[in-house]
Amino acid sequence: MTDNKTEQPKSFMEMLNDLLIQKYGKKIVEHGSEPKNFHALSDANGYVSYTGPCGDTMKIWLKITDDTIENIGFQTDGCDCTRAVGSVLTEMVKGGSIEEAMEITPTRIEDALDGLPDDHKHCAILARDALQKAIQGYLDDREA
Ligand code: FES
Repeated sequence: MTDNKTEQPKSFMEMLNDLLIQKYGKKIVEHGSEPKNFHALSDANGYVSYTGPCGDTMKIWLKITDDTIENIGFQTDGCDCTRAVGSVLTEMVKGGSIEEAMEITPTRIEDALDGLPDDHKHCAILARDALQKAIQGYLDDREA
């Protein structure tokens, strides 16, 4: 008796996804293609729109209560790596204190994605800088 089950050939999109995972790693592809917290917040009390040296912009919205980041959203016009770093960074800081968030380094963001390609390491710096500026803007407004 023969087994009539044949393996279905991969679709073009599946093959493309496999190639991207080979090149960038699984976490970058997952966060880059379906970024978490990729939205504006209507009740934000902290916000920044920051353009880095590469020309890409990251917008971050924060809802902070009692020095805790209750909610965070971001948007960017950057590449998949920029979306991936924004996505993983928002997951890292959501629910934590603003003090802890201010201490996050680009290396920690990169480690959370199991590394970034050499020519995209600056994406983590853009995300870190944008987050720090959004928090600082919130603190400045609170002092005013
Ligand atoms: Fe500019 Fe990623 S390529 S921040």
